[in-house]
Amino acid sequence: MRVMVIGGGGREHAIVWALKKSDKVKEIYCAPGNAGIASLAECVPIGVDRFDELIRFAKEIPIDLVVVGPDDPLADGIVDAFEAENIPIYGPRRNAAEIEGSKIFMKHLLKKYGIPTAQYETFTDYEQALAYLRGQSAPIVIKADGLAAGKGVTVAKTMEEAEKALHDMMVAKVFGESGNRVVIEEFLEGQEMSILSFVDGEIVRPMPAAQDHKQVFDGDKGPNTGGMGTYSPLPHIPQSIVDEAVERIIKPTAKALVSEGRPFRGVLFAGLMITKDGPKTIEFNARMGDPEAQVVLPRLETDLVDIILASLNGRLGELDIRWSGEAAVCVILASEGYPGSYPKGREIEGLADAEAQGALIFHAGTASRDGAIVTNGGRVLGVVGRGRGIAEARSRAYEAADAIRFEGKHYRTDIAAKALRG
Ligand code: AMP
Ligand code: GLY
Repeated sequence: MRVMVIGGGGREHAIVWALKKSDKVKEIYCAPGNAGIASLAECVPIGVDRFDELIRFAKEIPIDLVVVGPDDPLADGIVDAFEAENIPIYGPRRNAAEIEGSKIFMKHLLKKYGIPTAQYETFTDYEQALAYLRGQSAPIVIKADGLAAGKGVTVAKTMEEAEKALHDMMVAKVFGESGNRVVIEEFLEGQEMSILSFVDGEIVRPMPAAQDHKQVFDGDKGPNTGGMGTYSPLPHIPQSIVDEAVERIIKPTAKALVSEGRPFRGVLFAGLMITKDGPKTIEFNARMGDPEAQVVLPRLETDLVDIILASLNGRLGELDIRWSGEAAVCVILASEGYPGSYPKGREIEGLADAEAQGALIFHAGTASRDGAIVTNGGRVLGVVGRGRGIAEARSRAYEAADAIRFEGKHYRTDIAAKALRG
């Protein structure tokens, strides 16, 4: 098969890496890809939002299967567009992807079907939102309705911080149109967990749970990012809690989407908080997580192409999906200044040494320049260590992370520390 992956981040590098292992795959194309993906696939310089050009390219090759990585093209209907041309594509249609594209849609859906999530109110008017907010107490959570590259959420520790976040979103419009509608919701206390599932309608096949680290600095300090590191499995979280989340949250949500005439096909990502009252939903995403994919896909023993084809052919429920017992830890190396503004074009050294140590290096924001690999994004690389348990995987990830050098490199030093503390 000739496969095309849409996207160019660390998640897409992990997807390309997993597809490459399949003996059903002859060629992989990736649009637009990055400098790391280029070693496994042919990168095609077409943006993820250029549906017409992507379709034209897919017909020309011709591509047998398209796999979509990021949220934006899904929210904009890339799956609908390819399906209209009869090109097989894996991912949810626009109406199902709305579970990520609109937090308000998601919250209303969960409320309607009685699925556990934080209490909330939604607003389109700044004065009304402010008046409501002033009647609440901190900590409290303010969210822009639309997509904001993982940064449209403020967990405010003080009312002052909450009011500033609301003003930034609704008045200063730092997230543009995404801030026209906001959700103000109850702060949930507990540990977070991500469960990604292969979903086809009501069929839900959960992957092993992972944990992300959203804040930029050690000890969960500083502003939220797209994710600074992940690990899987979660040895300190009982399987019964994972099962409860699947039975009470993920399966009912897949079923609710079917009932609403928006059947979901693709990877459904549940971001959950394990509260003292059990798991509750923080968010749903309509795609694999980044950097969750980087630790979950290396643990997948079944051919990813078989899973995708089974989903497209209505056989997902019958497939035997196997996972390795090995642990994986991903440490993100970020550019100076990230998640704020950051420089690009800094030369990266030591990649070969890190790889020689056995780490998997998934490129996120990199580019090639005059034979060198340079930084080209906020999150630059995901360094994945694997081992018999979290401790071993973790020390391998950090050894490799230390072997890689670029000016201004920063990363969290406490990825997966929670798992070891218990
Ligand atoms: P989201 O983009 O909705 O996943 O939010 C980003 C991050 O903000 C989450 O991963 C949590 O760490 C945090 N967060 C979001 N909503 C809540 C909530 N209701 N209570 C506590 N933390 C939250
Ligand atoms: N790592 C969180 C996300 O992909 O949204």
